[in-house]
Amino acid sequence: MTQLEKVPMGRMFINDEMRETTLRILNSGYWIKGPESKAFGREWAEYCGALGGMPCSNGSVALIAALHALGIGPGDEVIVPSHTYIASATCISMVGATPIFVEIEEEYYTIDIESIKQAITPKTKCIIVVHLYGQPVSSEIFEFAQQHRIPVIEDAAQGHGASLNGKSIGSFGDIATFSFFPSKNMAVGGDGGAILANNSEELVQRISTFIDHGRSDKYRNDVLGTNFRLSEIQCGIGRIQLKHLSAWVTRRNEIARKYLEAFSNLDMKIPKIRHGAIHAWHQFVLRVNDREKFIQHMSNHGISTGIHYPIPCHLQPVFSDHPQGKRGQLEFTEQLCEEIVSIPIFPLLTDQEVERVIDAVSSF
Ligand SMILES: Cc1ncc(COP(=O)(O)O)c(C=O)c1O
Repeated sequence: MTQLEKVPMGRMFINDEMRETTLRILNSGYWIKGPESKAFGREWAEYCGALGGMPCSNGSVALIAALHALGIGPGDEVIVPSHTYIASATCISMVGATPIFVEIEEEYYTIDIESIKQAITPKTKCIIVVHLYGQPVSSEIFEFAQQHRIPVIEDAAQGHGASLNGKSIGSFGDIATFSFFPSKNMAVGGDGGAILANNSEELVQRISTFIDHGRSDKYRNDVLGTNFRLSEIQCGIGRIQLKHLSAWVTRRNEIARKYLEAFSNLDMKIPKIRHGAIHAWHQFVLRVNDREKFIQHMSNHGISTGIHYPIPCHLQPVFSDHPQGKRGQLEFTEQLCEEIVSIPIFPLLTDQEVERVIDAVSSF
């Protein structure tokens, strides 16, 4: 009997159109600031129902550009969930402001509105919400923030293709940021990201100028800026991937439905979908009591796993000097990080592999 290949946590989509486009753009000699980046920015904003936007180098600098565009800096506080990828929090420190870490909802693992209310001070200048694992955050947060005139940044790095009550994520906040890192729901053949803005054309323009050296003309730099641009080849690849995104999200949902059905009676916590949401299922995350044993069991059955994420942001060494940088600050987050484990979910997972994952989880 031949040994079955280990089921990986992801598999790249690369097709002939992407190969031909790469060669075409390479041969054109037009490598930056050309028609592909303009078209990709427009098409991505349209797909998400945002006012406007542009590609940029990655999802981390997208967040820095977003905070900069909102005028956030030293002395300001920015509310952010601690249970997220580190970039959602470090961007705040990168502009000289202070992250204020808050809890997540126990059902959906996204930022908790009650925790936000308790964290608000006169210094609060922004809220960063994260559509973690592809689950849209509660729409109540946007209403609350609007009442308090606090801008919201959607960190949508894991949310491509998600929506809530028929409205795409990326169209809720003042600004939304995306990552096209290779493992994300959509990729660009390297690092990549995008920034969308919703509240004014002026804000779109301000961000676009910031990521291109504050330039109004080739040799004229009006305001502070830097280079966070994305290359033409990557934008060309992104435009092709975008054509497949909706089908990929449908496939992710098909796999998630099979998992939810198969695991409903097992002794472990399975993810929930927010009412009215289309989940983008960037990750399918289980909560188990003995994670080490579970990971070993899955590995023995030829299934890869991941942990997103084992250390909450407030407990990362980088925040050891932060007033919240010690255990006992965010109890649910701290507990959750010890129990979560991600299993394979990606569009190119075959039906046979889905069955192998189900068999392995069910036999634990
Ligand atoms: C929630 C979240 N925010 C931000 C980022 C940063 O994106 P990038 O890796 O493209 O810089 C990521 C990427 O892993 C992410 O998952």
